[in-house]
Amino acid sequence: MSAIPRTVQPSATPAHAQGLGESDSVWFALIPLLKDPGNPMQMLLRMCQKYGGIIPIRLKDRRIIFMSEVDHFKHVLVTRADDYVKYFDGLRPVFGNSMITIDGALWQRIRRPQQAAFHPAKFEEYLPYLLKALRGKADRWQQLADSGETVEMVEETWTLAADMVCQALFDREMPFNPHFVFGCVKTYTDVQNHKAIRLQRVNGELIEVSEANAAKAMKTWGAMPDQVLGAPIIDNRQSTLLNMILEAEADPDFPDFDHQQVVDEMKQYLWAGTETTALTLAWCLYLLSQHPEVAEKIRDEARRVCGDGEPNWEQAQSLVYTRRVIQETMRIYPPIWSFIREAAVDDEIDGQKIYKGDTVVLCSYAVHHSPKYWSEPEKFNPDRFAPDRMKARAKYSYLPFAAGKRSCIGGALSQLENGLALAMLLRRFEPEFMGEVPALIGPTVTLTPKGGLPFRIRALD
Ligand code: HEM
Repeated sequence: MSAIPRTVQPSATPAHAQGLGESDSVWFALIPLLKDPGNPMQMLLRMCQKYGGIIPIRLKDRRIIFMSEVDHFKHVLVTRADDYVKYFDGLRPVFGNSMITIDGALWQRIRRPQQAAFHPAKFEEYLPYLLKALRGKADRWQQLADSGETVEMVEETWTLAADMVCQALFDREMPFNPHFVFGCVKTYTDVQNHKAIRLQRVNGELIEVSEANAAKAMKTWGAMPDQVLGAPIIDNRQSTLLNMILEAEADPDFPDFDHQQVVDEMKQYLWAGTETTALTLAWCLYLLSQHPEVAEKIRDEARRVCGDGEPNWEQAQSLVYTRRVIQETMRIYPPIWSFIREAAVDDEIDGQKIYKGDTVVLCSYAVHHSPKYWSEPEKFNPDRFAPDRMKARAKYSYLPFAAGKRSCIGGALSQLENGLALAMLLRRFEPEFMGEVPALIGPTVTLTPKGGLPFRIRALD
């Protein structure tokens, strides 16, 4: 990798000309750049400091423009959003042609009928289902506390997030074993990430994972939505997200929305709507294990607001300190640490020529950790998100959910899910981090913990 001068011409083969699912997708090509065995993200920050906020990089025959200033985010995601299109090469098998991957008029038509399911006005309806999923998780944690075994926290939080999505948004019991299903997607992304290595630990042994394994895993993953559709209906609620999606399929004026679109939209929610929420909660529990005084404040708030019981809707909204802790976690560990776009036209940003076909990588991790925008950026301090301090913050310096019209549809919902999880689970348990401190980052498409986050659950009483 090398930073290249500003005058370099675009490659003869623009990135958009490449086929879907190709192994040299930028998503996977970025990972080997971050080779620092300790904290690879520190290497990224050093690169931004050395070369400035906008860095053109030549990677094989591709020109990648790396950006890390708030004005760049505004330009690409908001002001000129139509000129920078989504880039999802390599991830189509995971997301299909769902809303998150497509652009233009079709994206707009697909997003519109689903938007209502994510309006906070719907959240009161979801609350009992989120709490039910949490009761299931608390039962499991009681068993784990009794047995004393060590568990992988990302798996714990992922199963919780998947259960919440299935129950609240689809009105279905979760019909699959999430450990197995999410393992399938990991097999696929591992094969893409590590073309040369492809080793996976199975029952304590390292085995080679082939592209055939990855293809098989993707077949299992592709069958999940139909399994969810056929699963037991919980309460036959009418205005669920799932029904909104099925109505779009039945709409004769919307022929593009066929059954494959239903499948793809569900794949998107089962993955994009769960992994990110799960990573946030797992990283949060890691941070709390290092800051027990903050965990204690969350418990105090939960007791003060909810007493001994579960929160009603008003109480759930009053968990304000808990929400700040989640927001600070997403600043330090943004689950989506960069957004990738492709330039649809020639442009110029900050004196840097952008050519049609260039791949643009907007690094939210760099902005979240920049001393230009945050004092003591490496310090965990939830009070940064107190209302008066939020007003003073530079616009576009906090982007866990991106910005502009393509920002996350489920950001508010994920904060409700994780707020309830912290309040309800920490009141009864103290998760003890069993790994080495500091936990290392192994960035993939998402900001995952390298080697996982092992925890033991201790019951409080
Ligand atoms: C902490 C949790 C979450 C984080 C950090 C997160 C982050 C993001 C980000 C950064 C994007 C934009 C990506 C880009 O522009 O390249 C996005 C899009 C999206 N997210 Fe989330 N997300 C979270 C939770 C959820 C949940 C709970 C759902 C739904 C159940 C969801 C569904 C979506 C969808 C459908 C899109 C595509 C929107 C569009 O393109 O119009 N996300 N998310």
